[in-house]
Amino acid sequence: MRAMISETAGGPESLKLMELPSKPLGKGQVRVAVKAAGVNFPDTLIIADKYQFKPPRPFAPGHEIGGDITEVGEGVTGYKMGDRVIGMIGHGGYATEAVIDQGNLLPMPKNMSYEDGAAFTMTYGTSYYALKQRSSYKPGETLLVTGASGGVGLTAVEIGALMGLKVIAAVGSDEKMEICRKYGATMFVNYTKDKMRDKVKELTGGNGADIIYDAVGGDAFDESVRCIAWYGRLLVVGFAAGRIPSLPANLALLKSCDVRGVFYGAWRGREPAQARKNFDELLALYAQGKLKPHISMRFPLEKGADAMNALLSRKATGKVVLTVA
Ligand SMILES: NC(=O)c1ccc[n+]([C@@H]2O[C@H](COP(=O)([O-])OP(=O)(O)OC[C@H]3O[C@@H](n4cnc5c(N)ncnc54)[C@H](OP(=O)(O)O)[C@@H]3O)[C@@H](O)[C@H]2O)c1
Repeated sequence: MRAMISETAGGPESLKLMELPSKPLGKGQVRVAVKAAGVNFPDTLIIADKYQFKPPRPFAPGHEIGGDITEVGEGVTGYKMGDRVIGMIGHGGYATEAVIDQGNLLPMPKNMSYEDGAAFTMTYGTSYYALKQRSSYKPGETLLVTGASGGVGLTAVEIGALMGLKVIAAVGSDEKMEICRKYGATMFVNYTKDKMRDKVKELTGGNGADIIYDAVGGDAFDESVRCIAWYGRLLVVGFAAGRIPSLPANLALLKSCDVRGVFYGAWRGREPAQARKNFDELLALYAQGKLKPHISMRFPLEKGADAMNALLSRKATGKVVLTVA
Protein backbone atom coordinates (compact mmCIF):
# COMPACT_ATOMS: atom_id res chain seq x y z
CA MET A 1 0.00 0.00 0.00
CA ARG A 2 1.00 3.65 -0.48
CA ALA A 3 0.47 6.36 2.11
CA MET A 4 1.42 9.94 2.93
CA ILE A 5 3.44 9.36 6.08
CA SER A 6 4.40 11.59 9.00
CA GLU A 7 7.77 10.43 10.37
CA THR A 8 8.64 13.58 12.33
CA ALA A 9 6.42 16.35 13.73
CA GLY A 10 6.01 19.24 11.30
CA GLY A 11 3.93 21.05 8.71
CA PRO A 12 2.37 19.65 5.52
CA GLU A 13 5.76 19.52 3.75
CA SER A 14 6.96 16.96 6.33
CA LEU A 15 4.64 14.30 4.79
CA LYS A 16 6.32 11.70 2.54
CA LEU A 17 4.73 9.31 0.05
CA MET A 18 5.88 5.82 1.11
CA GLU A 19 5.29 2.21 0.12
CA LEU A 20 4.38 0.13 3.18
CA PRO A 21 3.35 -3.48 3.84
CA SER A 22 -0.39 -4.03 4.36
CA LYS A 23 -1.46 -4.22 8.02
CA PRO A 24 -2.81 -7.54 9.30
CA LEU A 25 -6.57 -7.67 9.86
CA GLY A 26 -7.73 -8.06 13.47
CA LYS A 27 -10.98 -9.43 14.90
CA GLY A 28 -13.96 -7.22 14.03
CA GLN A 29 -12.01 -5.30 11.37
CA VAL A 30 -12.31 -4.87 7.62
CA ARG A 31 -9.82 -3.82 4.95
CA VAL A 32 -10.99 -0.98 2.72
CA ALA A 33 -9.58 0.12 -0.64
CA VAL A 34 -9.62 3.89 -0.17
CA LYS A 35 -11.14 5.79 -3.10
CA ALA A 36 -11.24 9.25 -1.50
CA ALA A 37 -9.99 10.77 1.75
CA GLY A 38 -11.34 13.91 3.42
CA VAL A 39 -8.85 16.61 4.43
CA ASN A 40 -9.66 18.31 7.72
CA PHE A 41 -8.03 21.05 9.76
CA PRO A 42 -7.25 18.61 12.61
CA ASP A 43 -5.06 16.64 10.12
CA THR A 44 -2.73 19.64 10.08
CA LEU A 45 -2.65 19.61 13.89
CA ILE A 46 -2.10 15.86 14.32
CA ILE A 47 1.07 15.81 12.14
CA ALA A 48 2.45 18.77 14.12
CA ASP A 49 1.82 17.04 17.49
CA LYS A 50 -0.72 19.79 18.33
CA TYR A 51 -3.84 17.61 18.45
CA GLN A 52 -5.59 15.98 21.40
CA PHE A 53 -4.43 12.55 20.15
CA LYS A 54 -0.81 11.75 19.26
CA PRO A 55 -0.59 8.48 17.27
CA PRO A 56 2.74 6.61 17.39
CA ARG A 57 4.92 7.36 14.33
CA PRO A 58 5.13 6.59 11.52
CA PHE A 59 1.48 7.25 10.71
CA ALA A 60 -0.62 8.72 7.90
CA PRO A 61 -3.05 11.52 8.77
CA GLY A 62 -6.62 11.38 7.49
CA HIS A 63 -9.68 10.94 9.66
CA GLU A 64 -12.27 9.93 7.09
CA ILE A 65 -12.44 7.92 3.89
CA GLY A 66 -14.85 6.55 1.32
CA GLY A 67 -14.05 3.20 -0.29
CA ASP A 68 -14.81 -0.47 -0.92
CA ILE A 69 -14.42 -3.37 1.52
CA THR A 70 -11.83 -5.80 0.11
CA GLU A 71 -11.45 -8.17 3.08
CA VAL A 72 -13.61 -8.98 6.09
CA GLY A 73 -12.09 -10.09 9.42
CA GLU A 74 -13.36 -12.65 11.90
CA GLY A 75 -16.50 -11.68 13.80
CA VAL A 76 -17.62 -8.87 11.47
CA THR A 77 -21.37 -8.75 10.99
CA GLY A 78 -23.47 -6.58 8.71
CA TYR A 79 -20.67 -5.84 6.19
CA LYS A 80 -19.31 -7.93 3.30
CA MET A 81 -16.72 -7.78 0.53
CA GLY A 82 -17.53 -5.11 -2.04
CA ASP A 83 -19.69 -2.95 0.26
CA ARG A 84 -19.26 0.79 -0.27
CA VAL A 85 -18.49 2.34 3.08
CA ILE A 86 -17.48 5.49 4.92
CA GLY A 87 -14.71 4.97 7.49
CA MET A 88 -14.01 7.22 10.49
CA ILE A 89 -10.53 6.34 11.60
CA GLY A 90 -8.83 9.22 13.44
CA HIS A 91 -5.75 8.85 11.26
CA GLY A 92 -4.57 6.61 8.38
CA GLY A 93 -6.88 7.92 5.64
CA TYR A 94 -4.22 9.44 3.35
CA ALA A 95 -3.45 5.96 2.00
CA THR A 96 -4.51 3.46 -0.65
CA GLU A 97 -5.96 1.12 1.98
CA ALA A 98 -7.10 1.26 5.59
CA VAL A 99 -7.89 -1.31 8.27
CA ILE A 100 -11.03 -0.19 10.10
CA ASP A 101 -12.96 -1.43 13.15
CA GLN A 102 -16.51 -2.37 12.24
CA GLY A 103 -17.84 0.19 14.73
CA ASN A 104 -16.16 2.99 12.76
CA LEU A 105 -17.90 2.14 9.49
CA LEU A 106 -21.06 3.58 7.98
CA PRO A 107 -22.83 2.25 4.89
CA MET A 108 -22.83 4.77 2.01
CA PRO A 109 -26.25 5.66 0.60
CA LYS A 110 -26.69 4.44 -2.99
CA ASN A 111 -26.66 7.97 -4.40
CA MET A 112 -23.48 9.00 -2.52
CA SER A 113 -20.13 9.32 -4.32
CA TYR A 114 -16.88 8.20 -2.66
CA GLU A 115 -15.83 11.85 -2.50
CA ASP A 116 -19.01 12.90 -0.71
CA GLY A 117 -18.56 9.92 1.63
CA ALA A 118 -15.04 11.08 2.47
CA ALA A 119 -16.26 14.64 2.99
CA PHE A 120 -19.15 13.85 5.28
CA THR A 121 -18.56 12.52 8.77
CA MET A 122 -16.24 14.99 10.50
CA THR A 123 -17.96 18.18 9.40
CA TYR A 124 -21.62 17.14 9.42
CA GLY A 125 -21.09 14.99 12.51
CA THR A 126 -19.57 17.92 14.42
CA SER A 127 -22.12 20.51 13.36
CA TYR A 128 -25.14 18.28 13.93
CA TYR A 129 -23.91 17.36 17.42
CA ALA A 130 -23.16 21.02 18.15
CA LEU A 131 -26.56 22.28 17.02
CA LYS A 132 -28.78 19.34 17.99
CA GLN A 133 -27.26 18.23 21.29
CA ARG A 134 -25.43 21.37 22.52
CA SER A 135 -27.29 24.48 21.37
CA SER A 136 -30.82 24.19 22.90
CA TYR A 137 -32.01 25.79 19.64
CA LYS A 138 -35.53 26.96 18.94
CA PRO A 139 -36.62 27.51 15.32
CA GLY A 140 -36.62 31.20 14.47
CA GLU A 141 -33.59 31.97 16.62
CA THR A 142 -30.52 33.61 15.15
CA LEU A 143 -27.39 31.51 14.55
CA LEU A 144 -24.05 33.24 13.93
CA VAL A 145 -21.39 30.98 12.36
CA THR A 146 -17.75 32.12 12.25
CA GLY A 147 -15.49 30.67 9.55
CA ALA A 148 -18.84 30.02 7.88
CA SER A 149 -17.50 28.99 4.46
CA GLY A 150 -14.99 26.50 5.95
CA GLY A 151 -15.34 22.75 6.48
CA VAL A 152 -17.34 22.62 9.67
CA GLY A 153 -18.69 26.17 9.27
CA LEU A 154 -20.56 25.55 6.01
CA THR A 155 -22.25 22.44 7.42
CA ALA A 156 -23.36 24.50 10.45
CA VAL A 157 -24.88 27.02 8.02
CA GLU A 158 -26.64 24.26 6.06
CA ILE A 159 -27.93 22.33 9.10
CA GLY A 160 -28.87 25.54 10.95
CA ALA A 161 -30.98 26.69 8.01
CA LEU A 162 -32.66 23.23 7.84
CA MET A 163 -33.48 23.54 11.56
CA GLY A 164 -35.30 26.81 10.89
CA LEU A 165 -32.63 29.13 12.30
CA LYS A 166 -31.84 32.54 10.79
CA VAL A 167 -28.20 32.18 9.82
CA ILE A 168 -25.61 34.95 9.86
CA ALA A 169 -22.43 33.84 8.05
CA ALA A 170 -19.24 35.48 9.29
CA VAL A 171 -16.38 35.13 6.80
CA GLY A 172 -13.00 36.63 5.92
CA SER A 173 -13.81 37.84 2.39
CA ASP A 174 -16.82 39.03 0.39
CA GLU A 175 -16.30 36.21 -2.16
CA LYS A 176 -16.87 33.61 0.56
CA MET A 177 -20.36 35.01 1.28
CA GLU A 178 -21.82 33.59 -1.95
CA ILE A 179 -21.30 29.93 -1.07
CA CYS A 180 -22.79 30.59 2.40
CA ARG A 181 -25.85 32.13 0.73
CA LYS A 182 -26.27 28.98 -1.40
CA TYR A 183 -26.17 26.88 1.78
CA GLY A 184 -28.87 28.91 3.56
CA ALA A 185 -27.31 32.00 5.19
CA THR A 186 -29.39 35.15 4.81
CA MET A 187 -27.17 37.67 6.61
CA PHE A 188 -23.43 38.25 6.31
CA VAL A 189 -20.41 39.75 8.08
CA ASN A 190 -16.93 40.16 6.62
CA TYR A 191 -14.89 40.26 9.82
CA THR A 192 -11.78 41.48 8.06
CA LYS A 193 -13.67 44.67 7.07
CA ASP A 194 -16.38 45.19 9.70
CA LYS A 195 -16.24 44.95 13.47
CA MET A 196 -18.24 41.79 14.05
CA ARG A 197 -19.93 42.92 17.27
CA ASP A 198 -21.33 46.07 15.59
CA LYS A 199 -22.45 44.33 12.41
CA VAL A 200 -24.18 41.47 14.27
CA LYS A 201 -25.99 43.90 16.56
CA GLU A 202 -27.09 45.90 13.50
CA LEU A 203 -28.36 42.73 11.78
CA THR A 204 -30.26 41.56 14.88
CA GLY A 205 -31.89 44.87 15.84
CA GLY A 206 -29.52 45.24 18.81
CA ASN A 207 -30.28 41.81 20.34
CA GLY A 208 -27.17 39.92 19.27
CA ALA A 209 -27.10 36.28 18.11
CA ASP A 210 -28.95 33.62 20.15
CA ILE A 211 -26.50 30.87 19.17
CA ILE A 212 -22.90 31.39 18.08
CA TYR A 213 -20.97 28.53 16.46
CA ASP A 214 -17.33 29.58 16.68
CA ALA A 215 -14.81 27.45 14.74
CA VAL A 216 -12.24 30.25 14.48
CA GLY A 217 -11.35 31.33 18.04
CA GLY A 218 -8.93 34.23 18.55
CA ASP A 219 -10.44 37.62 17.67
CA ALA A 220 -13.64 35.96 16.36
CA PHE A 221 -14.31 34.53 19.84
CA ASP A 222 -13.51 37.87 21.52
CA GLU A 223 -16.04 39.55 19.23
CA SER A 224 -18.58 36.74 19.68
CA VAL A 225 -18.90 37.18 23.45
CA ARG A 226 -19.61 40.83 22.75
CA CYS A 227 -22.48 40.25 20.30
CA ILE A 228 -24.30 37.36 21.95
CA ALA A 229 -27.95 37.72 22.96
CA TRP A 230 -29.39 37.55 26.48
CA TYR A 231 -29.56 33.80 27.35
CA GLY A 232 -27.33 33.15 24.29
CA ARG A 233 -25.31 29.95 23.80
CA LEU A 234 -21.75 30.25 22.51
CA LEU A 235 -20.51 26.94 21.10
CA VAL A 236 -16.72 26.58 21.29
CA VAL A 237 -15.90 24.44 18.24
CA GLY A 238 -12.36 25.29 17.15
CA PHE A 239 -9.41 27.65 16.93
CA ALA A 240 -8.59 27.85 13.21
CA ALA A 241 -7.08 31.31 13.79
CA GLY A 242 -4.46 29.69 16.01
CA ARG A 243 -5.09 31.61 19.26
CA ILE A 244 -7.03 29.93 22.05
CA PRO A 245 -8.97 32.84 23.57
CA SER A 246 -9.77 33.54 27.22
CA LEU A 247 -13.23 34.48 28.47
CA PRO A 248 -13.68 37.52 30.73
CA ALA A 249 -16.27 35.98 33.10
CA ASN A 250 -18.11 39.31 33.51
CA LEU A 251 -19.25 39.07 29.87
CA ALA A 252 -20.99 35.74 30.55
CA LEU A 253 -22.62 37.33 33.60
CA LEU A 254 -23.78 40.44 31.71
CA LYS A 255 -25.67 38.37 29.11
CA SER A 256 -26.74 35.47 31.33
CA CYS A 257 -25.23 33.41 28.52
CA ASP A 258 -23.69 29.94 28.34
CA VAL A 259 -20.31 29.10 26.84
CA ARG A 260 -20.50 25.44 25.80
CA GLY A 261 -17.68 23.19 24.65
CA VAL A 262 -18.16 20.93 21.62
CA PHE A 263 -15.78 17.94 21.45
CA TYR A 264 -17.37 15.76 18.84
CA GLY A 265 -14.84 12.91 18.75
CA ALA A 266 -14.97 12.40 22.52
CA TRP A 267 -18.79 12.51 22.50
CA ARG A 268 -18.88 9.82 19.78
CA GLY A 269 -16.76 7.60 22.03
CA ARG A 270 -18.88 8.27 25.12
CA GLU A 271 -22.32 8.06 23.52
CA PRO A 272 -21.93 5.77 20.48
CA ALA A 273 -25.64 4.94 20.18
CA GLN A 274 -26.66 8.63 20.06
CA ALA A 275 -23.80 9.38 17.65
CA ARG A 276 -24.94 6.56 15.36
CA LYS A 277 -28.53 7.86 15.49
CA ASN A 278 -27.26 11.29 14.44
CA PHE A 279 -25.48 9.69 11.45
CA ASP A 280 -28.57 7.72 10.46
CA GLU A 281 -30.50 11.01 10.42
CA LEU A 282 -27.75 12.85 8.50
CA LEU A 283 -27.40 10.09 5.91
CA ALA A 284 -31.18 10.03 5.44
CA LEU A 285 -31.09 13.81 4.83
CA TYR A 286 -28.30 13.26 2.29
CA ALA A 287 -30.25 10.48 0.55
CA GLN A 288 -33.24 12.87 0.29
CA GLY A 289 -31.01 15.52 -1.32
CA LYS A 290 -31.30 17.90 1.66
CA LEU A 291 -27.57 17.89 2.45
CA LYS A 292 -24.75 18.14 -0.09
CA PRO A 293 -21.06 18.49 0.83
CA HIS A 294 -19.42 21.39 -0.98
CA ILE A 295 -16.07 20.13 -2.30
CA SER A 296 -14.09 23.09 -3.60
CA MET A 297 -10.74 21.38 -4.23
CA ARG A 298 -9.51 17.89 -5.14
CA PHE A 299 -5.92 16.65 -5.06
CA PRO A 300 -4.32 13.27 -5.82
CA LEU A 301 -2.98 11.34 -2.80
CA GLU A 302 0.65 12.33 -3.40
CA LYS A 303 -0.35 16.03 -3.19
CA GLY A 304 -1.57 15.67 0.38
CA ALA A 305 0.67 18.53 1.50
CA ASP A 306 -0.85 20.88 -1.11
CA ALA A 307 -4.31 19.86 0.09
CA MET A 308 -3.43 20.78 3.67
CA ASN A 309 -1.89 24.07 2.55
CA ALA A 310 -5.13 24.93 0.74
CA LEU A 311 -6.84 24.85 4.15
CA LEU A 312 -4.09 26.67 6.01
CA SER A 313 -3.96 29.48 3.42
CA ARG A 314 -7.76 30.00 3.72
CA LYS A 315 -8.12 29.41 -0.05
CA ALA A 316 -10.54 26.49 0.14
CA THR A 317 -14.25 26.68 0.87
CA GLY A 318 -16.23 23.74 2.24
CA LYS A 319 -14.18 20.58 1.86
CA VAL A 320 -10.90 19.54 0.31
CA VAL A 321 -10.66 15.89 -0.76
CA LEU A 322 -7.84 13.56 -1.83
CA THR A 323 -8.72 11.25 -4.69
CA VAL A 324 -7.00 7.89 -4.43
CA ALA A 325 -6.47 5.69 -7.50
N1 LIG B 1 -14.86 20.62 18.20
C1 LIG B 1 -14.77 19.61 17.38
O1 LIG B 1 -15.18 18.49 17.69
C2 LIG B 1 -14.15 19.87 16.03
C3 LIG B 1 -14.37 18.99 14.95
C4 LIG B 1 -13.80 19.32 13.70
C5 LIG B 1 -13.03 20.48 13.57
N2 LIG B 1 -12.81 21.25 14.66
C6 LIG B 1 -12.01 22.49 14.58
O2 LIG B 1 -12.74 23.46 13.87
C7 LIG B 1 -11.84 24.38 13.25
C8 LIG B 1 -12.20 24.51 11.78
O3 LIG B 1 -11.98 23.25 11.13
P1 LIG B 1 -12.31 23.08 9.56
O4 LIG B 1 -11.95 21.67 9.20
O5 LIG B 1 -13.65 23.60 9.29
O6 LIG B 1 -11.22 24.07 8.94
P2 LIG B 1 -11.27 24.90 7.57
O7 LIG B 1 -12.06 24.17 6.56
O8 LIG B 1 -9.86 25.24 7.27
O9 LIG B 1 -12.09 26.21 7.95
C9 LIG B 1 -11.60 27.10 8.92
C10 LIG B 1 -12.11 28.49 8.60
O10 LIG B 1 -11.57 29.35 9.60
C11 LIG B 1 -11.29 30.61 9.03
N3 LIG B 1 -9.96 31.09 9.50
C12 LIG B 1 -9.75 32.22 10.21
N4 LIG B 1 -8.46 32.37 10.49
C13 LIG B 1 -7.82 31.31 9.95
C14 LIG B 1 -6.45 30.92 9.89
N5 LIG B 1 -5.48 31.66 10.47
N6 LIG B 1 -6.13 29.78 9.24
C15 LIG B 1 -7.07 29.02 8.68
N7 LIG B 1 -8.40 29.34 8.69
C16 LIG B 1 -8.77 30.49 9.33
C17 LIG B 1 -11.31 30.46 7.51
O11 LIG B 1 -12.37 31.25 7.00
P3 LIG B 1 -12.22 32.82 6.70
O12 LIG B 1 -11.06 32.98 5.75
O13 LIG B 1 -13.53 33.14 6.10
O14 LIG B 1 -11.97 33.48 8.03
C18 LIG B 1 -11.63 29.01 7.25
O15 LIG B 1 -12.65 28.86 6.29
C19 LIG B 1 -10.43 23.83 13.50
O16 LIG B 1 -9.86 24.50 14.61
C20 LIG B 1 -10.68 22.37 13.84
O17 LIG B 1 -9.67 21.82 14.63
C21 LIG B 1 -13.37 20.97 15.87
